[in-house]
Amino acid sequence: MALFTERSDEKFQGGDAATRALSSIDVENHFVERVYEKLSGVYDITFGPTLHPGRLQALDRMAIEPGAKILEVGVGTGINLGLYPRSCDITGIDLSAPMLEKAQERIAKKGLRNCQVLEMDAAAMQFADDSFDIVYAPYLISVVPDPVAVAREMRRVCRPGGRIVILNHFKSDNPVISRIERAISPMCVHLGFKSDLDLPGFLAQADLSPVSIHKVNLANMWSLVTCVKYT
Ligand SMILES: C[S@@+](CC[C@H](N)C(=O)[O-])C[C@H]1O[C@@H](n2cnc3c(N)ncnc32)[C@H](O)[C@@H]1O
Repeated sequence: MALFTERSDEKFQGGDAATRALSSIDVENHFVERVYEKLSGVYDITFGPTLHPGRLQALDRMAIEPGAKILEVGVGTGINLGLYPRSCDITGIDLSAPMLEKAQERIAKKGLRNCQVLEMDAAAMQFADDSFDIVYAPYLISVVPDPVAVAREMRRVCRPGGRIVILNHFKSDNPVISRIERAISPMCVHLGFKSDLDLPGFLAQADLSPVSIHKVNLANMWSLVTCVKYT
């Protein structure tokens, strides 16, 4: 069975934000795991520098308070771990064991005693409700098979009044660029992400109302989306 499939035009482009398909591509966890197994050795050189301005801006805008409990969803090789204040308590989760091995090495090498990483599916987290002050997903939401299920889990484990922060590339509003993003999405899944994820559709279906959206990284093509869990 194919582990990723392309949708028809009708399913992707038809319907309103609350019902339409969020990407032209469907992936499965096994496919994603296989891709990140291959990427684990080169991730930091290939996706490190280009995506770093967004990581730094996210940390800056989060203005994390001492003692805060943070969950990083899709922690990968732990490239963000050294950026958090040492005074806060970081839990990182990821589906990929090879990516987590790199994160463990980084924690040991840098002596990051405030960080722990766990193997876990973001769509089925093993944490109690309301466990974290900030739940942060950097460059994850266009990787997973079901972004809405992941957003619901992020909301569930965030405490009331806490923040859900998503850093990601979404499909452009510009029709020419979005056509290109759609055309290249079947290739991008082999590099670990879908290039045509629909932000308005995602927010509507995940029932998230952002308090801010900042454009970050090269050509402002990525978005830093901050939401507050009110209830
Ligand atoms: C693009 S990397 C992001 C790594 C890191 N957060 C960063 O800032 O570069 C995406 C990560 O999400 C992980 N991932 C994919 N699907 C997942 C899932 N269902 N649950 C948890 N992690 C997942 C991948 O294994 C990969 O390590």
